[in-house]
Amino acid sequence: RTVYVNGDYLPENEAKISIFDRAFLMGDGVYEVTSVLGGKLIDFEGHNRRLKRSLDELDMPHPAVLDDLLDIHRELVRVNEIEDGLVYLQITRGAPGDRDFAYPDPDTPPTVVLFTQSKPGLADNPVAKKGIKIITVEDLRWGRRDIKTTQLLYPSMGKMMAKKAGCDDAWMVQDGFVTEGTSNNAYIVKDGKIITRALSNDILHGITRAAVLRFAEEAQMQVEERNFSVEEAKDADEAFVTSASAFVMPVVEIDGVALGDGTPGAVATRLREIYIEESR
Ligand code: PDD
Repeated sequence: RTVYVNGDYLPENEAKISIFDRAFLMGDGVYEVTSVLGGKLIDFEGHNRRLKRSLDELDMPHPAVLDDLLDIHRELVRVNEIEDGLVYLQITRGAPGDRDFAYPDPDTPPTVVLFTQSKPGLADNPVAKKGIKIITVEDLRWGRRDIKTTQLLYPSMGKMMAKKAGCDDAWMVQDGFVTEGTSNNAYIVKDGKIITRALSNDILHGITRAAVLRFAEEAQMQVEERNFSVEEAKDADEAFVTSASAFVMPVVEIDGVALGDGTPGAVATRLREIYIEESR
């Protein structure tokens, strides 16, 4: 696989990053994941806008390479022959040459890394036909979840707690209300109404979320952006999650409680179809 590191396209085993890199030592980096369907990038502009916002919120300078990111994405998709899959992008505050809690001089060159992952048949993921089972866990992350940082240890722990419980993923809960999934936004459906937490610093402002809510409204579905509790979720008719890598993924069980008849719901299934159709 060919990867991109600080201006160079290299075979992955020749790519090198400093041991003093701020993301390695401090989790001081931001990232984006953009899906590729049929060789085409999905929502590149949305991901690019959110990337700039993440950089701004962390006072990270905008590297000149920001202007070339679309070309770099396309080049990696081309050389790695990605039909379906994703492009991962990470920008860190660079490698100042020592460990220090204070940010380095703003002139320190950032580290910019991109690589692809191939996922053949992404749109026909058989998991979407069965749906996923989730558990709920307390949301123990920091208070700026709207910034897409590389500090992903707690979401990773949540995913492992789910696996240990024989489930696929975890929804995180704060004061009794669901914030989001470990790496996706969370939704329930009750009496035909789609309910999802409103945007704030508590959740990532999902690019897929924005697209799916737009498609839902275009399809005359009702959408309500508000908090929902774990109890309300267990009592819902259906549920689903959205992310760049999962698209729309039905949830069929929450903490051992089956939703509806325990199969993917009609709203989630329809939204998945629309999302894939519109993204091709
Ligand atoms: N995760 N919430 C969290 C905590 C996420 O990590 C993600 C994305 C989302 C959905 O955002 P979007 O629709 O823009 O992908 C919500 C990516 C896919 C990841 O970490 O791999």
